Order: sequence, then structure tokens, then C-alpha cells
Amino acid sequence: MGIIISTLNKSDTLYQDYIESIEIIDDVIRDDNDINTLIPTIVKNVIEIFKCERCWIIYPCDPKASTWQAVCDEAISPLIPKFEINVDHPTTTSVSDYFKKHIESAEPLVSLSHETLNVPGGAHFIQPRRSQLSIAIKPKSGEGWLIAIEQCHFERSWEEIEQKLFKHISKRINDALNNIFYAKELTKSKDNLNSLLKKLPDLILELDIDANIISSNKPLKNNRPNLNYRSHISEALSVSQIEELDFAIKKIKSREEEKITFELPLVPVNANEIHILSHLIMPIRKSGKVIGFLLIVTDVTEQRRSQDALTRLNNSLERRIGLEVDISRQKDHLMFQQSRLASMGEMIGNIAHQWRQPLSSLSAIIQNIRHKSDRDKLNREFLENITEDALKIASQMSDTIDDFRNFFEPSKAKERFNVNKAIEDTLELLMPTLLNNDIKTINNQNINIDILGYKNELSQTVLNIFSNAKDIIIEKVQRSRIIMIEISLSKNNRHVVISIQDNGGGIPENIIDNIFDPYFTTKEQGKGTGIGLYMSKQIIETNMKGNILVKNSTFEHEKIIYKGAQFTIELPLTLR
Ligand SMILES: Nc1ncnc2c1ncn2[C@@H]1O[C@H](COP(=O)(O)OP(=O)(O)OP(=O)(O)O)[C@@H](O)[C@H]1O
Ligand SMILES: [Mg+2]
Repeated sequence: MGIIISTLNKSDTLYQDYIESIEIIDDVIRDDNDINTLIPTIVKNVIEIFKCERCWIIYPCDPKASTWQAVCDEAISPLIPKFEINVDHPTTTSVSDYFKKHIESAEPLVSLSHETLNVPGGAHFIQPRRSQLSIAIKPKSGEGWLIAIEQCHFERSWEEIEQKLFKHISKRINDALNNIFYAKELTKSKDNLNSLLKKLPDLILELDIDANIISSNKPLKNNRPNLNYRSHISEALSVSQIEELDFAIKKIKSREEEKITFELPLVPVNANEIHILSHLIMPIRKSGKVIGFLLIVTDVTEQRRSQDALTRLNNSLERRIGLEVDISRQKDHLMFQQSRLASMGEMIGNIAHQWRQPLSSLSAIIQNIRHKSDRDKLNREFLENITEDALKIASQMSDTIDDFRNFFEPSKAKERFNVNKAIEDTLELLMPTLLNNDIKTINNQNINIDILGYKNELSQTVLNIFSNAKDIIIEKVQRSRIIMIEISLSKNNRHVVISIQDNGGGIPENIIDNIFDPYFTTKEQGKGTGIGLYMSKQIIETNMKGNILVKNSTFEHEKIIYKGAQFTIELPLTLR
């Protein structure tokens, strides 16, 4: 024929035939959604349309698949050999090539009887005088299909118009396959969604604009369609729910709110405990217009119950923690007092010692006055001189008291102070006791530095450490009693490091981890409370954000190696 469809005249019978053929296929497709019946009907109609002897469809048309199957094979005579249906055939190299050629071609492929046909089925199907027209159908999902029509008993050259029609029909089949596939997918996901919605514990209602129930995810007791919820009270909603809903719907309709949630306590039928139901209502819109509502009712009783329990627990925990914190604060305060009193007692010893000498000077002065008076030698000049001396001594004594008083005044706010000076002042207060006990202090100050903190608290800590060192030295060391103090910078220059080391022999390893515990002491009753180091740790670590550490170590002094405890205080070098 050699005619191209676009060149056909509309009145041409060929054109009419063409259109009719397509319509036949369209009708078949429209009437059948089941692929199992659709395909044989198509195949039969194709044989009719092309007046050929055989038509078959195979799947998958995949050069890489290991097997293929004939889905349908129809012939006009039983003498014409056919494929076995739905039986796996191996994809041989020649079949794979045949599939590949089809996949790559958009046009139908023509094989004439004088050519050797390389087609599925192998040699068995190679007959003289068999002409074939075949094309791959490539649906959107899954592998391709292959459809072929054959003329078996005589040679047939496939006209261009026939090839066009064949291609056209294959496209229609492709569309049908796609549609069936999508419809299947759609039903599947719809089913999934429905079963999912059914499984939800919530009640989901779709309402129309007049609040009639259109659909629900759970069957309602009297499942009548288009039931106005007002007549549905006993099964879907209660009176109070409906009142709240009326109010919510009004608000949404007047566009005051986009969605509304409310909770209601309810006693469900056949249950005597109260349930808390949460309601979420929101509009369903179509082209911006509200056409109905979605109402989701959730039982939140358990949630609320555990939330309440949690809040109660939190509150009582908070109260208990607050109480504990108060108690421990009071305890700490008490300990501070005790510890202060203890060192005060020690300091009174120091004051007494420091006063001994000026006191004896004063009594000497008084004796001198009496002596002069006895001998009538008390003149004005002598009296003036001696009074001046006495006043000087008295003022020195008063200074000593002031020094101690200052020392025991707790620092109120953080202040900038010189670390070296603070330590020197402390050592000065301690000096009489140390000298009395023949303890030598070696003071190595490698830096001179100011920090921000509590000066008197630091002094108290140094005092506690010195006092412990003094105790152990007096107990254990007869000759060469030494305490060495060093002030330096940490390696990263971020801390000032104060190290206090004694030669008392060290702290036994089995207690070294406990010495900072409150009330831990190895001293006999009346001599130690076990608060000193606990307080020191609180001061350094909590109040001044530093560290206090202890270890046993050795040091060398005048070519002799000494062993003892080494306390290290690290304080951050901040001035703000
Ligand atoms: N330099 C040291 N050498 C050896 N042991 C020490 C040293 N410093 C502290 N200890 C040990 O640590 C314990 C706890 O010291 P801490 O200062 O806390 O209490 P305490 O000295 O016993 O009593 P107080 O509360 O009166 O100071 C001491 O009893 C002692 O056993
Ligand atoms: Mg102590």
C-alpha cells in the first residue's frame, strides 16, 4: 500500500478502517480492567484487524532476565505451532539479542519469510514462509512486553500503514497496562490507608458543611449514611461534645480559627471511670472554600494521668531536693563555724604568744614607774617618755588583735587580691606557733600575682593545710622539721598553683582518698574534727572554682631528700 496516515484522505476507506481498528481496541480496553481477560481479547481482535494467522505476547522483554514466558498466543488454525503459556523459557543469546533490538527500537520490526527468523521458540518455530511484525511495549512500571503478529502460510510484506497501525495499537495496549497498574497501586494504597486508619485508636470523622457524618474510620453503631451527628449522639458524640463542636464549627466558618482543639472529660457507657477525650477539628477546603470538617477524637486519659503523676513527682522531688539542699547548706554553715572556731582557738594561742613580749614590756614599764615613784624620782619628762613607750606597745598589741580579727572576718564579695600577700599574712599569723615548734618554712614564690576571689577563705585553707602539716610533723619528726610553700603558674598559664609540702612522712595510701570527706579524722578525740580539709575543698572548688589535690611526694632541701604530703591548690587566673 505504501500510504502514510497523515496523507490519507478522511473519506478514504483505508482511513476509516484505521480509525475503526483503533476504536475496537479502545472499546476492549475500556470494558476490561482485568489484565488476565483483557490480553486474550486484545490478541483476538488484533488477529481480526490485521487478518493475520497468529498473534502472541511475551513477558518480560528483558535481555538481561534469565527466562521469559508467553502470556498469550492465539492462532487461527490448530496446525500453527504455538508457545506453551506461562511456562519459563531460558533467555538464550539469540533471544536476548532479539529482545534488545526491540527495546532499542521505537518502530515495529519486520521479519520476512525469506530471512532467517531469530525469534523466541528457537528452531522449532522457524518455518519457511513466515512473516512477522513485532514491537516492544514499554509500560512505566515493570519490564517491557513484546507483541507480535505473524503470517504463517504465505509471505506477507507488512505495509507501512499496517506498521503504523500496529505501533498505534501497541501504544494503546501500553496505556491500558499503565492504567491497570496505577489503578492496582491506587487500590492497594487505599486499602493500606484504610486498614491503617482502622487500626488507629482515634475516632476520625469526616463531616460535611452541615456537620453530617460522611465517613468514619471505625464503624459506628447504626451505620446509616449521611447521619447528622445530632441524631447520632449516643454512638458517636455526647451532648457536651456537640455543644463544644457547634462552637468550634462556628468559629472556623467565620474564619476566626484555622483549627481548634479542646479536651473534655467523659464517662463512656459501660465504664465508671472518667476518660479525657481530646478533639481536633479542622476545615476541609476545596478551591479555598470550606466544604466540610475533619474531626479527630483521641482518648488521652492515660497520657494525662501519667503527665499528672510526673508533675506530682517532679514537684515533690523539687521540694525534697530543696529541703536536702537547705539541710546540707545548714550543715556546711555549721561546719564552717566549727572549723573557724577550731582555728580561732589555735589563733588565740598565737595572740597570747604575740602578746607575751609586749605584755612583759608593759609590766616592766609599770614596775619602772613604781620604782621611780618609790624613790621620788618621778619627773614630768620621764613620765612623758615612758607613757609614749607604753602607748606604742599598747597600739602594737591592738594591731595584733585587728590582724586576727580581719583574718576571721568572712569575705562577703569576691575581691581582687594579691595571692603572695595573702599567703605571707597567713604565714605571719602562724609564725609564732611554727617557731615555737621549731618548724622551718621555705617560701618559694616564683610569681607575684593578683586574682579575683575570697581572700580570707584562701587564708583559712592555707591555715588548715599548715595546721595539719604542723600536727603530723610534731608527731613524727624530731629534727629538721620543714614545710615548703611554692607559688607558680600552671603549664597552660591559666591557673595560679599554690603547693604546700611537708616532711611528715605522707598520708597512708589506704586513707588518702578519704581525707577530704567531712568528719574524716585520724586524730584522737578533742584534737581533730575532720572538717578542716572538707571545708578547704568546699572553699576552693565550690566558692573559688579551683581545684585542691593531694599526693605523697619527696623534695630535696640542702642535699637531703624529704618525704611527705603535698597539697596543691589551683585557682583560675580571672580578674573579672
Ligand atoms: N599533711 C598531712 N600528712 C599526713 N596526714 C594528713 C595531712 N593532712 C591531713 N592528713 C590526714 O587527713 C585527716 C583529715 O584532715 P582534716 O584537716 O580534714 O581533719 P583533722 O585535721 O583531723 O581535723 P580538723 O577538722 O581539726 O582539721 C587528718 O586527720 C590526717 O589523718
Ligand atoms: Mg586539720
